[in-house]
Amino acid sequence: MEQEYYVSPARKLTDAEQQLVWNKPQSHKTSAEEQRISKEIKRNWNRGEMKIANILLEGDAGSGKTQLAKALSYNLGLPYTKVTCFADMDKSDVIGAILPIIPTEQLEKMESEEQTVLQALYESDGFHSATEIVMQALAVSREHATHKLKQLMKKVEQNTEGESVEYRFYPSEIVRAYQNGYLLEIQEPTVIRDAAVLMALNSALELDGSINLPTEIVRRHPDFVAVITTNRNYAGTRPLNESLRDRVQHTEKMDLPAKEVMLERAAAKTGFDDLEVLGVLADVIILLDETARANAIKGVAGMRSFFYWVDAVAGGASAQESLYHKVIYKITTDPEEIKILEDVLKSRGLQESLNELEANLKKKV
Ligand SMILES: Nc1ncnc2c1ncn2[C@@H]1O[C@H](COP(=O)(O)OP(=O)(O)O)[C@@H](O)[C@H]1O
Ligand SMILES: [Mg+2]
Repeated sequence: MEQEYYVSPARKLTDAEQQLVWNKPQSHKTSAEEQRISKEIKRNWNRGEMKIANILLEGDAGSGKTQLAKALSYNLGLPYTKVTCFADMDKSDVIGAILPIIPTEQLEKMESEEQTVLQALYESDGFHSATEIVMQALAVSREHATHKLKQLMKKVEQNTEGESVEYRFYPSEIVRAYQNGYLLEIQEPTVIRDAAVLMALNSALELDGSINLPTEIVRRHPDFVAVITTNRNYAGTRPLNESLRDRVQHTEKMDLPAKEVMLERAAAKTGFDDLEVLGVLADVIILLDETARANAIKGVAGMRSFFYWVDAVAGGASAQESLYHKVIYKITTDPEEIKILEDVLKSRGLQESLNELEANLKKKV
């Protein structure tokens, strides 16, 4: 039963790969979307051109897109990796970096930070992407590491100009997943500005595709599964690139989950399971979410706000007061917009429900 949806039951993962397969925590609740996608992928896995291996999860922030991608890693039995897209991503971020191997005498003359980075890269086993190695070596963020790596490549290129040097290729996270057959979450490719980068990404999603690296051509591993996750935006932001969208074989529209699912997830996450209280808080979140949308208020009242609010109330905070700090101010701090949200809570009787709830909670203590 456990391995019902394994796409390659006979495949032997290395220890390092096995560690990348997600483990479902106790708090994970299997959703209808998760079951549907797992079934679909398994059903079509050996059906040639009908294979389903590019998935799009589009919708509200906090609706569970990332966790769903991870759950698929578990269900399909594939290592999970991700790439977080950013606006000025370039082709080397999609493909990887090529770096010259610098002789030791020359290396010793470089700045210590640069030495640290190069040393870490040279010693790497090729299992981690160059960016990840730099992140670890310098204890910096992904974006910072990407930037550092580019700077370093430029510098090394200048220093070694005209000399005959040996090169080594460090594949990106995307290429590693593609080549080794992992499940790759591609977060928010909507932000990418460079059309060439989108094209590179697009061709990587061809079912029968290949990627041209400076050193070789790599073919898509039959187990490679791409899960694009993107927040659906309302006010003026770019939609997902048409041709990327066109590559997708199964799409889920991810919204604020149904109320029962909201309660179930919140209870699992916070350990607080008073369904009456949870129900009122969920009703408030649902109404605020609708109202914000209807009035073109930019912020969202999503699952994350819900969890933090429930947790505060469970910890003894006033539901009324924490509503502002955990939910409303996260949506907006504009006084007129706050007024709209407050008015709708009053007119739908939820203000009163919160009062009652507060009084009851006080009595219980
Ligand atoms: N199936 C689920 N069961 C329990 N908790 C979930 C589930 N899906 C999401 N969550 C929780 O909801 C929160 C938001 O989920 P996440 O996947 O990060 O959302 P998104 O990627 O859509 O912004 C996380 O804290 C996550 O643990
Ligand atoms: Mg996410």
